[in-house]
Formats: sequence, C-alpha cells, structure tokens
Amino acid sequence: MEKLLTGKCSREVLFGIIISFCLCFALLCLHNSSSLGFSNWVNILGNRHVHSIVDSCSGRYIYIHDDLPARFNYDLLSNCKSLSAGSSMSSDTVNMCPYLVNFGLGPEIESSKGVLANKSWFTTNPYLLEVIFHNRMKQYDCLTSIPSLASAIYVPYYTGLDASLHLWDTNLTVRDSSAKDLVKWISGKPEWKKMWGRDHFLVTGRTSWDFRRQHDNNSDWGSGFRFLPESKNMTMVSVEGSLWKNDFAIPYPTNFHPAKDSEIVQWQNRMRYLERPYLFAFVGAPRPGMQKSIRGELIDQCRASSTCKFVHCGSHGINCNNPVTVMKVFQSSVYCLQPPGDSHTRRSAFDSMLAGCIPVFFNPGSAYSQYLWHLPKNHTKYSVFIPARDVTDLKEVRIEKLLLGISKKKQLAMRNKVIKLIPKLVYADPRSRLETQDAFDLAVKGILERIENVRKVIREGKDPSIGFAEEDSLKYTFPDTLE
Ligand SMILES: *[C@@H]1O[C@H](CO)[C@@H](O)[C@H](O)[C@H]1NC(C)=O
Ligand SMILES: *[C@@H]1O[C@H](CO)[C@@H](O)[C@H](O)[C@H]1NC(C)=O
Ligand SMILES: *[C@@H]1O[C@H](CO)[C@@H](O)[C@H](O)[C@H]1NC(C)=O
Ligand SMILES: *[C@@H]1O[C@H](CO)[C@@H](O)[C@H](O)[C@H]1NC(C)=O
Ligand SMILES: *[C@@H]1O[C@H](CO)[C@@H](O)[C@H](O)[C@H]1NC(C)=O
Repeated sequence: MEKLLTGKCSREVLFGIIISFCLCFALLCLHNSSSLGFSNWVNILGNRHVHSIVDSCSGRYIYIHDDLPARFNYDLLSNCKSLSAGSSMSSDTVNMCPYLVNFGLGPEIESSKGVLANKSWFTTNPYLLEVIFHNRMKQYDCLTSIPSLASAIYVPYYTGLDASLHLWDTNLTVRDSSAKDLVKWISGKPEWKKMWGRDHFLVTGRTSWDFRRQHDNNSDWGSGFRFLPESKNMTMVSVEGSLWKNDFAIPYPTNFHPAKDSEIVQWQNRMRYLERPYLFAFVGAPRPGMQKSIRGELIDQCRASSTCKFVHCGSHGINCNNPVTVMKVFQSSVYCLQPPGDSHTRRSAFDSMLAGCIPVFFNPGSAYSQYLWHLPKNHTKYSVFIPARDVTDLKEVRIEKLLLGISKKKQLAMRNKVIKLIPKLVYADPRSRLETQDAFDLAVKGILERIENVRKVIREGKDPSIGFAEEDSLKYTFPDTLE
C-alpha cells in the first residue's frame, strides 16, 4: 500500500489532479478578472493550493491601494514648498522640499566630525515617515496586486502631510475636507466591502492626536479624520498612538538608515565601547507655557549637577535638528532624560537609544504603552522609570542621586539591552534589502497580527466592531509599582 502511494505512477496521477485543479481555478479567476499579471497567477496558485509547501508569503500578502488619486499622496510631494517641516506654519519652517530627496530620508550628512558613521546618516524629517514607509512598502517581498489575496490593505495616504496644509485653519470645514474626501473614495472601492475597512491600514509621521478632534470647536486642536465612521473601521500607525484602540505607535524615524546589515553591527559595536563622561543628559527646551511640564524642574536639576549635560535646543546657535549636536551628547552620557514635550512621546527617545544612552522616562505614555511591537514588555530591562505626573511628584526626587544608586552591573545590563534593540528601532534605507528585521518589518508584523485577530473574531461569528476602535482610558495610567 505504502509502496503504491509513493510509486511513480500514482505520483503522476496525483500531479495531474493537482494541475487540472489549478487550471480550473485559474480559468475561474480569469473569468472574474481580466487584467492579471504572471506573478499574480503564481500568487493565486501558491496561496490557494500549495502554500504549505512553497509559499513563504502566506498570511503576509499586502495589497497597496496604488490607484489612490495623486492628490492624496504624490501631489503633496510636488507641492512640498507649501508643506511645513516644523511644528508650526511660520515662514521659517515652511518648505519640505529639501527633505524629500533619497526616497524621503533627506539629504545625506557629509561630514560629522567622527560622531556619526561615514555612511547612511541623513537629515531626516520625522513627518516624512509616511513617505519612507510607502517607499519601503513598495519593496516589501509579499506584495500582491490581487486585493482578495491580501491579508492587509495599505492605503498610501500621506495623512499628516495632507492634514498639515490645514491644521491651523480656523474653518473646520476646510480642516476636515480632504480627510472626508479620502474616506469617501476608499469606502467606495470594491475592496472595502470585504471587511468594511477592517483590513485597511494607514501610516502617518504625525501623532494620532492631530487627527482626533472630538468637538467641533475651532479652538480645539486637530482634524476630525479618525472620528469619521469609515476611519473608525481602519487601523492607523503613527509615531504616537492615542487612547483609541485602532491607533498603534511605531518608532519615530531617526537619522540612521542603514543600507547594509554590517553597518548596524558596526554601529552597535562602536556604541558599546564609548567613553561616557556624563552620568545623564537632557537635550531639549523648557515649556514655560505648560503648567504641568516637568521640563523646568529637570533643567534646574541638570544645571545643578556637575555630572549632567544640558543642551538648550533653540537657544542662540544651538540647532537640535542637527543630529551631530544631539548624538554627540547622547553618546557621551549614560542616561538620557526623556520627559514629555508637547505630547507624551519624543523622537529624542529613539535618538538616545540609538546612541546607547539608557532612556529615563517619566510618563508611561512616553514609550511603555506606545511601542508595544518594538520595545520589550519589561521596561526595567532597558530604561529607568521615574513616574511624574507633574512637578510636585519630582520635589522629593534627586535624579542624580537616584541614577547614582543604580549598580554598575544593572547599568551595563540596561545599556547592552538598549544597544541590542537598535536594529529594531531604525528604518533601513528603502533602496536596499537587509536580513535584519528593522522597525518597518516589525510594524508590518504587528499590523498583520492585528488584522488576523480581527479576522479570527469574524470567523468565530462575533462582531469585529467590539473593541476595535474603543477608547482605552487606562492607557496612560501610572502603574502602582515600578515594574
Ligand atoms: C570615516 O572616514 C574617515 C575619513 O575618510 C576615516 O578616517 C574614518 O576612519 C571613517 N570612519 C568610519 C567609522 O568608518
Ligand atoms: C468655511 O469654509 C467653507 C468652504 O470653503 C465655506 O463654505 C464656509 O462659509 C466657511 N465657514 C466659515 C465660518 O467661514
Ligand atoms: C470652544 O472652546 C473655547 C476655548 O476652550 C471655549 O471658551 C468655548 O466655550 C467653546 N465653545 C463651544 C461652543 O463649546
Ligand atoms: C464599519 O464596519 C461595520 C462592520 O464591522 C459595518 O457594519 C459598517 O457599515 C462599517 N462602516 C462603514 C462606514 O463602512
Ligand atoms: C523585569 O526585568 C527585571 C530585570 O531583568 C527582573 O528583575 C524582573 O523580574 C522582570 N519583571 C518581570 C515582570 O518579568
């Protein structure tokens, strides 16, 4: 019996059956859709019939909504002169054009006086994460042009660039108009109906708060994009999530975009053995207008300590947009203070980890409840937490003393962990392919898992809308214990 089954003859019969089955299926598909390329045939056959043998992309296929009207992405890039590269619309920040080069990575940094590596460092504007992500996605190894095969549908809308054109407009109709057009377009496509948008995702380089205006009061911040009914059915990833469960956070882009695996390893090795003359550092500016801001207190404590380095961003002659200024200090410090700024998170946290500087967080929303796909669950392994809701929480805390109290052994273990994390926190150059899993790869993995979970709920006959876009009011709750 066994011999018969493995015999040449029966194998041929089996092969014949499979082939005819595939052919029938192919004809069926041809009937439904007339414009399929060869690779899609391979996809169909691979996915449906022999995936367990040959299809390493099974469950990972992504369809890009390439047919999105150019006004939602490419036209914005052509119009880069009117886009703000900073946090306001003032004349000195408007003009994104210089940052668009190198697939959105920005101009390459030519000389860094030995602070950065000689290659793969760029002046990257973090808002362009949406462009960098799109360019990486175009190189993704499991793209499909057949929506029905896709596990996830990527909407390459430059959400933040588009919003930035009107975020400061007092007329709310104007502020929200483009987002409304987008959801109207996307929900009108045939792909929408399959899961009512629950397999769709978007990416932005702005914080989610910029799209979460809850009331129609023109003094309230943001667009209302994420509260539109269609938008509620979609998942968005951004550099800072909101309280709503369909927003997820992924790392801010830093200035390092390696083009080779070896560049990451070399960088890690260099960070491991640097001399770090400062115990701690703070690079930033005070927020005198924000009553609850702890920055003023941190700056006072830093200035009063002989082992702390303070760099006052924005003060005369100090340009913190220059990575050489920032990285030099982070590379010279053991700990880097990362208090909230205008929002909970900061790009600076990623710069500090990239420099092997152990981040000190003061609010769970600055990292622990944000970057769930990229940072270890147990935050004591790679960071120091000093909970501070406001300045009064810091009155009894002497940061210098607290940090000196951490053993050398623990310090070394944390730094090793931070340096180990580096590959997961950088976005590789979209023009190359790395073996290393980078921030993009982990983001895609997280998105696919998220959508697969929704599919599971649907398969179980349950309502996928339950919990999908709910508010999680406990997200930023300070823990009772420090672990
Ligand atoms: C960078 O280039 C300079 C001069 O070309 C060289 O001296 C230096 O060793 C290089 N550094 C690294 C990290 O490759
Ligand atoms: C806001 O803009 C819309 C569209 O341009 C216009 O019709 C409306 O009158 C404006 N509303 C206010 C209050 O100015
Ligand atoms: C809009 O917000 C302002 C400032 O917060 C407030 O004074 C005003 O009462 C609000 N208007 C409405 C209609 O809620
Ligand atoms: C959102 O998804 C639900 C099903 O989960 C669907 O009933 C609803 O119509 C969708 N909303 C839109 C605007 O498509
Ligand atoms: C977290 O990591 C620390 C240090 O490695 C360890 O002592 C602690 O038990 C861990 N906590 C949990 C909940 O795993």
